[in-house]
Amino acid sequence: MRQLLSLSRAARLVGVARGTLQQKIQSGELASFDGMVSGEDLLRLYPAAELESDIGFERVRKIKDEAFGRRMRERLLPSQEILAQRLFEQSRELADLRVHLQRYHAMVVQLRERLHQAQALGSGDASAQAARLGALLDGELEAVLGESAAPNALALMDDMLRVMSAHVVLRPSRHEFFVDGADTILEAALRAGLALNYGCSNGNCGLCKARVVSGQVQKVRHQDYVLSEAEKQQGYTLLCSNTAVGDLVIEALESTAPSDIPEQQIVARVKSVQALGDGLSLLHLQTPRTNRLRFLAGQSLTLTAGGNSAQLPIASCPCDDRNLQFHLAHGAQGDAAQSAFAGLKPGDAVTLFGPWGDFVLRADSTRSIVFIACDTGFAPLKSLLEHAMALEASERLCLYWLASQPGGHYLGNLCRSWAGALDNFSYSPVAAEHSDATELVRRIGAEHADLNAFDIYLAGPEAFVDAVSMDLLERGFPRTQLVAAVV
Ligand code: FES
Repeated sequence: MRQLLSLSRAARLVGVARGTLQQKIQSGELASFDGMVSGEDLLRLYPAAELESDIGFERVRKIKDEAFGRRMRERLLPSQEILAQRLFEQSRELADLRVHLQRYHAMVVQLRERLHQAQALGSGDASAQAARLGALLDGELEAVLGESAAPNALALMDDMLRVMSAHVVLRPSRHEFFVDGADTILEAALRAGLALNYGCSNGNCGLCKARVVSGQVQKVRHQDYVLSEAEKQQGYTLLCSNTAVGDLVIEALESTAPSDIPEQQIVARVKSVQALGDGLSLLHLQTPRTNRLRFLAGQSLTLTAGGNSAQLPIASCPCDDRNLQFHLAHGAQGDAAQSAFAGLKPGDAVTLFGPWGDFVLRADSTRSIVFIACDTGFAPLKSLLEHAMALEASERLCLYWLASQPGGHYLGNLCRSWAGALDNFSYSPVAAEHSDATELVRRIGAEHADLNAFDIYLAGPEAFVDAVSMDLLERGFPRTQLVAAVV
């Protein structure tokens, strides 16, 4: 029987991005059966899957965890209770399979006996035909029973994956993700780059209410919000307080545009201010546990503290809605507000208002992406990049970062570690003395003959953004695939 796998599960098993498999389906290298791929075809394309999958999967997970600042130990294993339930479900499937196999076996034995009877009782052609069929059946049985079938590496890994994590499909979008460890369904969806509807993340507001179409959930966090009896009977659950016991199908609302995200005002606290280089600092703010910020990657916030106010791009991913990062340019490179923020101390209060802006990933595009940053234009691109990595929808992600000052690639090591860990990501630091906007566009065009097949996200000072946009458009790059932000 053909083993069919969803694209997410297949990508996870062979350790590649989902976008890579999508590309292979589009190019005809991999057959798709109603959005699924067969395990046999997958093994043909990735014969080393057994060796590579664990390495690839762990490697990507580690870099993402480091990038997004997650506490890995908390996420390694589901709770004993969830593990026991998943094992119970698998045992039940196994028991069902055994019953079916026993029935088939009894049926084949009966068939063989009848053919032998027909051969003995019949005459002429009928007896000869029964003898032929009997011999054929005996031969087939001998071949099947004598086969020392090698274990199917993908099937084994898939069984293991199903114990370690649950697969969730959202309706109507058909987006998919996995719930690992003790994560709630909402946490897992955010980590996968999906913008589900939610509010408090804390079981109070009911905004994350969604209907379970199939599968089983289990409460792992306290909730004050009370679902009505009618809602319970219809299968509604709170995504922020429940985890998935096994594979799930859920009907849930998702944001697709900045206009879907409500304006919020939150008082956050400074977690740290870390020097990144000359005149550059990383401001880390933390929201209260019960009042997190909902935003889309690439958006900005208005920060107010000590009488100073500035609108700054968020430099972290919506997958961590409590820990927010900002890149500050101060001293000669920045403004008074950012200089004042760089002097904040851990525990200081900062009022956040927003989020703002539509510099967000195109929800409807699976094209490869070129990111072009100048100086602290890297901040919103970092958020977009982390989001794109979580989504795994693009086959290639290429970052060009132009720094106008020495030491301006202030998170170059992070970019290099991404490039080392992810096969589909490349990083090209560019020093201003070796390049200007025109030269940079010429270089990108020379390195990507198929540049018009990409989306381009561009962020930096106004003069840089204008010059690069103009050069790109003059070269015939489609305006609809260019998204720019002045930082
Ligand atoms: S987000 Fe408020 S109850 Fe789940």
